[in-house]
Amino acid sequence: MNTIMLEKMNTIKTLNVISEGGLNVFKNNYKLDDDHENPDAILLRSFNMHSMEFGNKLKAIARAGAGVNNIPVDKCTDEGIVVFNTPGANANAVKELVLTTLMASSRNLFDGVAWTKTLTGESDQVSKLVEAGKKQFVGKEIRGKTLGVIGLGAIGALVANDALDLGMEVIGFDPFISVDTAWNLSSHVQRAMTIEELFANSDFITVHVPFTDTTGGMFNQATFSLMKPGVHILNFSRGELVNEKDMGPALESGIVGKYITDFPNENVLKMDNVIPIPHLGASTKESEENCAMMAARQVKDFLETGNIKNS
Ligand code: MLT
Repeated sequence: MNTIMLEKMNTIKTLNVISEGGLNVFKNNYKLDDDHENPDAILLRSFNMHSMEFGNKLKAIARAGAGVNNIPVDKCTDEGIVVFNTPGANANAVKELVLTTLMASSRNLFDGVAWTKTLTGESDQVSKLVEAGKKQFVGKEIRGKTLGVIGLGAIGALVANDALDLGMEVIGFDPFISVDTAWNLSSHVQRAMTIEELFANSDFITVHVPFTDTTGGMFNQATFSLMKPGVHILNFSRGELVNEKDMGPALESGIVGKYITDFPNENVLKMDNVIPIPHLGASTKESEENCAMMAARQVKDFLETGNIKNS
């Protein structure tokens, strides 16, 4: 019988999908012990597989998420192990947080809330301080502002579409397809353009591409110098897309007005005007269930039929 190991993401529905296939599941842990050391497949979310030994039965690893940076894909390819991800399954969750943080940062909401929580005193004193505070946190509306969307896949297209509905101008670029193809494919962006043009024209930039050799460090001193001063950059893709040594000075000089990142670390947390989020982009009940279900179905199909269906 095929056996699947699950990192802690086993919703009841996921378990049902797997057990319909007559598959055995190691629940609720990712500890390789004597009983659990040799699964046929692994379903995981955040667990880092780079330092793990593979058992000799392992045929597939499925990530309940879009990025596969926690899986040694080259090693899997060499050893004939199929790697699945769950494209689109968490796109709505990420889109909602992108738009939430875009609006909240534009209205200085994070700083305003943090400041308000520090107020003390009697009600009338607090009211006076609140009135004074209003002046510190005057924001900008997003209607009529330009949003640059880098990456026009499942998440980027949803963000672009809803930003249009919010009255933004939306321009787009995709590093993996030509400008002409992006123009033809995406009804969501008003104009597809080169990345240099996107940097020069955007009031807000949101990035939705995987971390690869070509995208790593794409936000750096050279590209910051092309941007509109005060641009807000939203990164719900991977921290490595940003050169952090260059981000610090760009924030200090005001070239970057705010950096909203779902990937905070020690360096980023020391910078002013960073809005750090604890990797919540895909963290909704709905998205976790969608991803877990898609991963479970992919692995079940593969183990039962040999089909490789990454959807
Ligand atoms: C993704 O790659 O889609 C996210 O990192 C998913 C997650 O939050 O685990």
